[in-house]
Amino acid sequence: MRIVHIVGNRPQFIKLAPVSRTVQRRGHEEIIIHTGQHYDENMSDIFFKELEIPRPTKNLEIGSGSHAEMTASAMVGIEKELIKIRPDAVILYGDTDSTVAGAMATSKLNIPICHVEAGTRTFSRTNPEEKNRIVTDHLSDILCAADKESYNNLVKEGLESRAILTGDVMYDSFLTYGDKDSEKILNKYGIEDNEYILMTWHRQENTTDIRRINLILSLVSKLNKKIILPLHPRTKSVLIKLGLWDTVLEICNLKICEPVGYIENVTLLKHSQGILTDSGGLSKESYFANRPCFFMVDLVVWPCLESINQIIHLKLTDNETILKEVKLMDDTMKHHASIRDDVTKKNELVKEKINFFGDGHASELILDGIEGRLQ
Ligand code: UD1
Ligand code: UDP
Repeated sequence: MRIVHIVGNRPQFIKLAPVSRTVQRRGHEEIIIHTGQHYDENMSDIFFKELEIPRPTKNLEIGSGSHAEMTASAMVGIEKELIKIRPDAVILYGDTDSTVAGAMATSKLNIPICHVEAGTRTFSRTNPEEKNRIVTDHLSDILCAADKESYNNLVKEGLESRAILTGDVMYDSFLTYGDKDSEKILNKYGIEDNEYILMTWHRQENTTDIRRINLILSLVSKLNKKIILPLHPRTKSVLIKLGLWDTVLEICNLKICEPVGYIENVTLLKHSQGILTDSGGLSKESYFANRPCFFMVDLVVWPCLESINQIIHLKLTDNETILKEVKLMDDTMKHHASIRDDVTKKNELVKEKINFFGDGHASELILDGIEGRLQ
C-alpha cells in the first residue's frame, strides 16, 4: 500500500515515529507531508533527526497565522500533493489545525483516512482542538482510539463501526526512546534528581488572557522549588509583546530554556518531582513516568488519569487560591516521592497500575486496522 502521513506540529512528529517504523517494517511505501505549522529547528527538525523519521517529501510552509489562514493554506497544499501521489490511505495525528486541514482535503478526494488519537473529547465548545477532533473523526474511516474513554466517545457519536481501540502511540514512543544521558542533562541545568519541577506552557487558553498569564507567573514565583521551563515560542513571543519578559527572567527559581528534543524532555520528566503543564500530551506522559501532573487548563483531556488523581487541576483564580495550590503541589509531590522511595509500596503500586493506554504496540494495531479494512 502507498501510505501518506500528514503532520505539522511537535506532538505529531512524536506520534508519527512509531507508526512510520511499523509502516516500513511491513513493507508499505510511505510518504510524509509536513504542513510546516511548526518550523523552528527545535520544534520540528530535531524530532526527525533524533527519532530517525524519514525526511518529509514536501514541506508546505504554512507556519504561523490565524486558524483559518493556516488551515486553508494547508488544505490547498495537501490537495495538490495528494492528487500527485494518489495514496491508498492517509494517516492523520491528533487534533491540530494541520490535522483538520488534512481531514478536509483528503476526504473530498475520497481517499481513506486513518485518524490516530481519535475520540478524545473535552466537551468544551471554545477549545480550538475540540473542533478539530470532531471534524476529523467524522470525516475519517478508521478511528484509532488511544484509551477506552475515547473509544466510548466514538460509540456515543455513532462511529462504532469505524472505531478500533489500539492504545496510544505516545506510549510506544515513550517505551522506545526512553531516557538517555540523564546525568549529563541534569548537570547541564544544575539540577538534582527528583528536586525540580518540569514545566511547559503554550495553550491558547493560557496565552491570550493577561490576567491568567499573571496568575501563572504568580504561581511559579511562589513555588519554593527549581522549575525548568523549555518555553514554547508562542508563549515567549506573548510575554515579550506584553512587556513581561524581564519580569519572567527575574523569577529566581525559574530556569527558562529553548524547547528541547523529545529524549531530553522525557529525561527531564522522568527525573522530576512533578510536572506543571497545560499540555495534553505531557499530562499523559506524566503517568507513563509516574510523576504527578499539575494541570493548568480547566479541561478534562484524559478522564481515566483524573480518576486516579494522576492529573490534578490547579485553580488559578486569584492570589489567595494560588497559595493553597502551592501547598497542594508540595504535599502531593512529597507523597508521591515517599511512595517511590518505599520499595513495598512501589511494588504494590506497580501491580495495581492499570495501563489505560495499551502495551506499547499501538502502532502494530493501527497497521492491522489499516491492512484489515483496506487491503
Ligand atoms: C499548536 C496546536 C495545539 C498543539 C500545539 C503543540 C492548533 C490549533 N494548535 O499550537 O493544539 O497543542 O501546536 O505544540 O493547531 N511558533 C514559532 N515557531 C514554531 C512554531 C510556532 O515561533 O516553530 C510561534 C509563532 O509565533 C506562532 C505561535 O507560535 O504564531 C503559535 O503556533 P501555532 O502552530 O499556531 O499554535 P501552537 O500554540 O503551537
Ligand atoms: N515536548 C518536547 N520538548 C519540549 C516540550 C514538549 O519534546 O520542549 C514533547 C512532550 O514530551 C510531548 C509533546 O512534546 O511528547 C507534547 O507536545 P505539546 O505540549 O507541544 O503539545 P500537546 O500535547 O499539548 O498537543
